Amino acid sequence: MSNAFVMRSLDEIRFWSRIMKEHSLFLKLGFRCEDTQLIAEANQFYAVFEEIERRSHAFTVTADPELIKRFNTEVHNAASHIWAFKRKVLGLVLSCQLPGANNFPLLIDHTSREAFYFRNRLEELNTGRLEPLPDAIIDENVFFLRIMADHAKFIGHLLDPSERQLVEQARNFSNDFDQLLFQARDLESMRPQSQTVPLLDQFLDQNRVSVKSLRDFKKTAKDLIEACRIKSIIHPLLADHVFREAERFLFIIDMFENNLVRESSG
Ligand SMILES: [Fe+2]
Ligand SMILES: [Fe+2]
Repeated sequence: MSNAFVMRSLDEIRFWSRIMKEHSLFLKLGFRCEDTQLIAEANQFYAVFEEIERRSHAFTVTADPELIKRFNTEVHNAASHIWAFKRKVLGLVLSCQLPGANNFPLLIDHTSREAFYFRNRLEELNTGRLEPLPDAIIDENVFFLRIMADHAKFIGHLLDPSERQLVEQARNFSNDFDQLLFQARDLESMRPQSQTVPLLDQFLDQNRVSVKSLRDFKKTAKDLIEACRIKSIIHPLLADHVFREAERFLFIIDMFENNLVRESSG
């Protein structure tokens, strides 16, 4: 049990601290040269999460669970702070105090939702209050489907407008994922009656198909951007970042699928 706790904690922290570190970089790149205070804050967060990431890799699965519990609390605190920073930046952009800055409000909001998710995961782990499987399946899918829909929108808007075919493909993905998100919300409002094994299983299957094809599209975009074969203002690391988040969603879908099969047969 405690071994699973350590493993689960380290897995979440290794994945999400790298993500938080990269968000700091993306936010920094979107600020204007004169926003030196915001740039300094972003740099600080980069250093904080880089250090957390390093420490998470230094621990092993045999680490003392009490030590990991304290580490989780510390990381939870850092995630809360970066969340607050992102919300502050969102407020500045939405009140037009950073004219000409280059981070979309939806992107800032998106990264703050990811920080909140990370913070929440750590809280769940430390308090041991994990949602029942059928609730977790719906909630995680609602969260990640929206994240995927946002990614498609960001890609579509950061590609050069002259990349007409790719922009069109990104728009199609955005529509697909908006649809899937509505479906997920319908399933959510129909619970608990909607939480039957066949419905949840089909829900996971359907989402998996779309996430796989979005993941492949992101991979293609990432390769093209890295080889400088397409026109865009997408940082290669951002392309890789959204690709990794799709992989994470697939990993979670597969984990749910396995647990669902196990619970229904056991
Ligand atoms: Fe992200
Ligand atoms: Fe994301």
